Amino acid sequence: MIARRLYTQNYRNLFSDDIEFADGVNVISGQNGQGKTNLLEALCLFTGVRSFRGAKNLELIAKGEKFARMELDFFAEKREQSASLVITDKKQATLNGVRLTAATGFIGRFCAVVFSPDNMSLVKGGSTERRRFLDAAISQQFPTYPRLLVEYNRILAQRNAFLKKSATTAGFESMLEIWDENLSMTGAKISCKRAEYVSRLSGKAVEIFDGISSGRDTIGLRYSCSYLNPESVSETAAALKNQLEAHRASDLAQGCTNYGAHRDDLHISVNDMASRSYASQGQKRSCVLALKLAEASLLEQSAGERPIAVLDDVMSELDGLRQDYLLNHMDGWQVFISCCDPHTVKGLDKGRIIAVEGGKFSALQ
Ligand SMILES: Nc1ncnc2c1ncn2[C@@H]1O[C@H](COP(=O)(O)OP(=O)(O)OP(=O)(O)O)[C@@H](O)[C@H]1O
Ligand SMILES: [Mg+2]
Repeated sequence: MIARRLYTQNYRNLFSDDIEFADGVNVISGQNGQGKTNLLEALCLFTGVRSFRGAKNLELIAKGEKFARMELDFFAEKREQSASLVITDKKQATLNGVRLTAATGFIGRFCAVVFSPDNMSLVKGGSTERRRFLDAAISQQFPTYPRLLVEYNRILAQRNAFLKKSATTAGFESMLEIWDENLSMTGAKISCKRAEYVSRLSGKAVEIFDGISSGRDTIGLRYSCSYLNPESVSETAAALKNQLEAHRASDLAQGCTNYGAHRDDLHISVNDMASRSYASQGQKRSCVLALKLAEASLLEQSAGERPIAVLDDVMSELDGLRQDYLLNHMDGWQVFISCCDPHTVKGLDKGRIIAVEGGKFSALQ
């Protein structure tokens, strides 16, 4: 899919302005606080999900104004389309002239993969961040998956609450047996699904990471789960149930469940060393980029459309070769890259440079 033109009015600090995009690379250039991220954020609202900055509706409206309005012309599903968004305390959306019941109606119609500096927690943060990444990615492809997560979290909360009760309660053992059975079955389905997704993600990520690092580094992805048999959900469930039984005493002592899908992790390595502990800043950044772009490639395989790539503040900490890859070798992608350093822009072979100054756009190239 390709974003053709964006119009903004009263959107944060952006002037009422129109900007046309190139099919390939669009570099959004300007000094700090000029409106680069605002432009990318406005564009991404047309994916139907919340602002990637987590902003509330009213924060998106220029100070002193009552509403913000945006229009996007884009190409997807083999035709030219148009969408509009009016933001007050809520969002009103239209797609091709038809009013949608909610902005979430854009989901799947216009898609973006977004890299923002907050995403660095995927490598730098704890396992919760990585499980969240996997769960969100899988949910986009398998609409029944979120229900599985809700179910698992419900059983887990009930088991934990039950563990805090006295073990001398009548029927305690048999009740715990039921929670263990349910947790094992649901947990095994989740772990197997995630492991299967990681094996597909890995193939793409290795390829993309090789491109970003010009073959100098290799990324490794491994789903870490102590009871997994990737071939069989039922054997995985049986192994988890055994673990729960084996560690029942410590679970009881601590009043929480120490084994299950909520303890799994995605191990990311660079050159066979754990990225979190050993990778450099630029290598970590490259890992997150590779993961995000690999996710988008898998989505493209299932949905038939390649999302646009929105890369906010990605350039700093990347060396010349890595910057060159993003600027000139992301073949087949429409890319939006914000950057502050005017030297970076000089490395762009072809594409558009959009300068943003005080909320005003101008196309330099
Ligand atoms: N609701 C709003 N109304 C008016 N101005 C706003 C609003 N929200 C944010 N701004 C202004 O937008 C500007 C920030 O824009 P933005 O985050 O896009 O900067 P940037 O160009 O990405 O900068 P950096 O290079 O530091 O990331 C700030 O000056 C901020 O005060
Ligand atoms: Mg910014």
